[in-house]
Amino acid sequence: MFPISVLLIVLALGAAAPASASLLFVFGSSYGDTGNVKPGDSSRPYPWTRPYGETWPGVPDGRYSNGRVLSDVLGDALQSTPPVSISELNGVVNGSVGVNFAVGGSGVLSAYGYPPISSQIDAFQGVVSSFTPEQLASAVVLYATAGDDYFYYLTVQKAPIEGIYPLTVNVGKQMSEDLIRLYQLGLRKFAVTYLPPTGCLPIATANSSFSSCNDTWSVNVAQPHNARVFKNVLGLRHYFYNGSIVNLDLYTAFTNVQNSHGGLRPCCIGADSSSKCGSVGAGGEPAFTVCPDPNSAFYWDDLFHPTEAGWQAVVNQLQSALGPLR
Ligand SMILES: *[C@@H]1O[C@H](CO)[C@@H](O)[C@H](O)[C@H]1NC(C)=O
Ligand SMILES: *[C@@H]1O[C@H](CO)[C@@H](O)[C@H](O)[C@H]1NC(C)=O
Ligand SMILES: *[C@@H]1O[C@H](CO)[C@@H](O)[C@H](O)[C@H]1NC(C)=O
Ligand SMILES: *[C@@H]1O[C@H](CO)[C@@H](O)[C@H](O)[C@H]1NC(C)=O
Repeated sequence: MFPISVLLIVLALGAAAPASASLLFVFGSSYGDTGNVKPGDSSRPYPWTRPYGETWPGVPDGRYSNGRVLSDVLGDALQSTPPVSISELNGVVNGSVGVNFAVGGSGVLSAYGYPPISSQIDAFQGVVSSFTPEQLASAVVLYATAGDDYFYYLTVQKAPIEGIYPLTVNVGKQMSEDLIRLYQLGLRKFAVTYLPPTGCLPIATANSSFSSCNDTWSVNVAQPHNARVFKNVLGLRHYFYNGSIVNLDLYTAFTNVQNSHGGLRPCCIGADSSSKCGSVGAGGEPAFTVCPDPNSAFYWDDLFHPTEAGWQAVVNQLQSALGPLR
């Protein structure tokens, strides 16, 4: 039997842990979303169809991966209390958990006609009074766009990649406005993601049967976008008195780990050129193939989403950037 004093210490530590864990607020698109796309939304059905969620939790649960996504894995690394998806809240927010507002497909501007990330900040503004100033000041914000504005421009509008630069400028400006608004609402710790090397994402490498990166996509999309975010964040560092803001360099992290963690070929691939991972045929049969061991792949689907193991490898690369958020 343990002496009673040891038990008391154990109980005290157990009780202290949740109070000191910071809250996490997530804004962005599919790298952050943990279930905010509506299950019946036929315009973006994938996170609620098989084989998404196949490894964890075993059924589709609204995440764009075989398991957990960036916001989950980063939240673990920061030992934050896992946030609840805004879609699960039914309007009832309390100060004990943060909230995930990210919705797959959302642009910083209005990609695909979906509400932009700024509308997620409107939703946050609606519930901000549920949190104390101290909770907000110690909370961490993850602002993560997957590049949806650019994929919309390139694949839906089918506009020329040579003309994409002005869009990177406008996206950068809007990101700064979004971050300033979150600061003005009382949040103080910010993690802002860079785009990964766009030309290495399955959406850009499908043409080469996933054998090589298309540098045109990285040079014209991710690189100018990231340069813009770098400058903006540098500027905000001065403005964010008493705050901290860090870049999460997904470009370097993906580049460092993708080859040693499964390469460019995604695990789940549409069966033909008109199908994607998650597509079904006319009779409801799967129109995709899935590799035997999803977590042996870096990329999960034939869009731009890593596997859970891919995200783990990426977040391991980011550890040294996380200090100011702890
Ligand atoms: C606060 O909300 C979370 C998520 O909805 C819930 O799990 C928790 O029980 C709530 N706590 C209180 C004290 O209402
Ligand atoms: C794929 O290759 C075709 C022909 O070279 C080209 O027109 C198209 O833009 C390429 N698509 C992507 C996504 O790179
Ligand atoms: C790379 O992307 C550009 C722009 O979409 C496209 O024109 C080109 O054909 C692509 N290259 C390959 C090898 O697919
Ligand atoms: C900065 O943070 C310190 C410690 O939390 C606080 O006492 C001070 O009032 C803050 N200053 C401003 C201008 O917010």
